[in-house]
Amino acid sequence: MVDMEVCEITCSPEETQAVAASLVRVLMNKPGVRGTSTIVALRGDLGAGKTVFVKGAAMALGVRETVRSPTFVVERRYPLPEGAAWRTLVHIDAYRLESEDELYALGWEQVATDPGNLIMIEWPGQVGFGVPERAVWVDIEHLDEKTRQITIDGATYGA
Ligand SMILES: Nc1ncnc2c1ncn2[C@@H]1O[C@H](COP(=O)(O)OP(=O)(O)OP(=O)(O)O)[C@@H](O)[C@H]1O
Ligand SMILES: [Mg+2]
Repeated sequence: MVDMEVCEITCSPEETQAVAASLVRVLMNKPGVRGTSTIVALRGDLGAGKTVFVKGAAMALGVRETVRSPTFVVERRYPLPEGAAWRTLVHIDAYRLESEDELYALGWEQVATDPGNLIMIEWPGQVGFGVPERAVWVDIEHLDEKTRQITIDGATYGA
């Protein structure tokens, strides 16, 4: 992998899900992020495709349950099949949170330090410094109705 930002244009939800699946494959082989949880922070406007992205990751990880947006419940957890790189996919939507304290109130410190967790969090900007810089930062930009630009920060693909 090259040590540079990865930027992809997708023309359908399925293509966005394929990008999510390939990110998952990179992360499961990256010892640098193991030893604590793996966090993917998804930035982008309403309807950009953050939840679509998480669905793609869940499918790639073998989740059979339907992944629904956690906007109202804030957090949903999906147990992963035996042999997966993580035990649990934790999907958080911070849209309704107003500070990092509200994230901590959800038990974030424990969730975020458990190496068995792959955490995907939408609206990370809502919780200030609650999401650590070591997260994999993914930006999804709405270009037009079906087109999105997905940028994944460079450190993810580094050594
Ligand atoms: N290339 C694409 N990639 C992803 N989604 C796309 C694409 N083209 C169209 N879409 C549509 O855009 C919408 C994205 O919705 P989604 O719920 O994933 O957004 P979101 O970023 O999670 O929004 P919110 O901030 O409200 O949670 C879906 O209806 C999806 O079908
Ligand atoms: Mg969403």
